[in-house]
Amino acid sequence: MISGWTAVVDRGDLTKTEVLHDERSTELGDCEILLRVSHVGLTANNVTYGVIGDLIGYWKFFPVDAEGRGVIPVWGFADVVDSTLDAIPTGTRVYGYLPMASHLVVRAKLTSSGFVDTADHRAELPAVYNSYLVTSQDPAYDPEQEDLQVLYRPLFMTSFLLADQLADNDFHGARTVVLSSASSKTAFGTAQCLRGSGVRLVGLTSPRNVAFTESLGLYDTVLPYDAQVDVEPSVYLDFSGSADLRSALHDRLGSSLVKDISIGLTQQKASADPRSEFFFAPEQLRKRTTDWGPDGFAQRFGTAWRAFTAQAGDWVGIAHHSGPDELVEVWQAVLAGKANPNTADVITF
Ligand SMILES: NC(=O)c1ccc[n+]([C@@H]2O[C@H](COP(=O)([O-])OP(=O)(O)OC[C@H]3O[C@@H](n4cnc5c(N)ncnc54)[C@H](OP(=O)(O)O)[C@@H]3O)[C@@H](O)[C@H]2O)c1
Repeated sequence: MISGWTAVVDRGDLTKTEVLHDERSTELGDCEILLRVSHVGLTANNVTYGVIGDLIGYWKFFPVDAEGRGVIPVWGFADVVDSTLDAIPTGTRVYGYLPMASHLVVRAKLTSSGFVDTADHRAELPAVYNSYLVTSQDPAYDPEQEDLQVLYRPLFMTSFLLADQLADNDFHGARTVVLSSASSKTAFGTAQCLRGSGVRLVGLTSPRNVAFTESLGLYDTVLPYDAQVDVEPSVYLDFSGSADLRSALHDRLGSSLVKDISIGLTQQKASADPRSEFFFAPEQLRKRTTDWGPDGFAQRFGTAWRAFTAQAGDWVGIAHHSGPDELVEVWQAVLAGKANPNTADVITF
C-alpha cells in the first residue's frame, strides 16, 4: 500500500476544494503502469477545463469517487514507480495530461514516442490528451527547461497552430489582428508567432495588465478593454470569452471585422455566439501533418518552440510551490484572476 492524495473541486463551484488522502494498493493489472506525479503548471487554461468540464468531458479523464466533485487536469511530468511493461521500466520520466493527485495508474499501449492510456473511461476522449511522451524519446525535451515545458507546451501548440491557420488563410484579407486577454500566455504566444508576418497586432487587456502586456514587446498596440480600436479590416482572436467585448467590437468595426475566432474564456463564462467560430486546433494539426508530413510538422513546431522558449523565461518569472496545500492556494489565486501575469506557477507534487 502507498499513501496518496487527490485534490478535488466541487463541479458546481470551483472555489470549493478538498484534498482527499488515501492508502492505495500498488497491485497492477495487465499493461498497467503506476505514475508518481512530479511537477505541473497551473494557468487559466486549467480553470477552463473546470468551467467547461461537463460540456467537453474534462471531468471524465480522472474520475473520482466523490459525489458532485471532480479532478482538474494539469500538464506536467511524472515518474514511473511501478510497471508491468518491460519497455517502460521504473524510473522512466514522462510528460502528459495528469490529475491534481499524487499518483495515476494508466493502462499503457506503446507508441513510437511513449504510450497512450487505453483505460476504458478515456476511450471516447480526444486522443491528444491520452498520450504520454517518454522524455528520452522526445526530441523537444530539455531537462533544463522542464518548468517552461509544463507551463507553455500545451498552450504554445495552440498558439502555433492558430497563427499558422491565419497565415494559411492570408488573414482573411485583414491586416490587423486584435487579441483579447492579450496578457495570457496563449495569446502572447500567438502574437510571438505572428510577428513579422505583416499584420498589425493589437492586444486588449485589463487596465491593470496593460504595463505587463506592453513590456512583452510583442504587440504593436496595447489597449485597455474600454478603449476604442481603429476601424480597419481586422480579425478578432478572443481568449477572454467576454460577450460584452465581442458586442462592442462588432458594433465598432461592423463589416471591417472580417473574422471572429473564439479560443478561450479567461473570464470563465461560456457563451456561444453565431458571429464567432471556435478554433479547433486538432483540425489544423491534421491539415499540417498532411501538408508537411509528421517530421516536417515536428521540425517547424520545434523551430517555433525554441524561438519562443528562448524568450519566455525573460517575460514571465516562475514561482515554485510544493504539496497539495500550496497547489490549492495557487488554484484559488488563478481562479480568482489574482495571479500577476508576470509570474507563472509550477507546483511540485
Ligand atoms: N482552444 C484551445 O485549444 C486552447 C488552448 C490553450 C488555451 N486556451 C485558452 O486560452 C485562455 C488563456 O489561457 P492561458 O493558460 O494562456 O492563460 P494565463 O496565461 O493564465 O492568462 C492569464 C490572463 O487571463 C486573464 N484572466 C485570468 N483570470 C481571470 C479572471 N478570473 N477573470 C478575468 N480575467 C482573467 C487575465 O488577462 P487579461 O487581463 O489580459 O484579460 C490574466 O492576465 C484560456 O481560456 C484557455 O482555456 C485554449
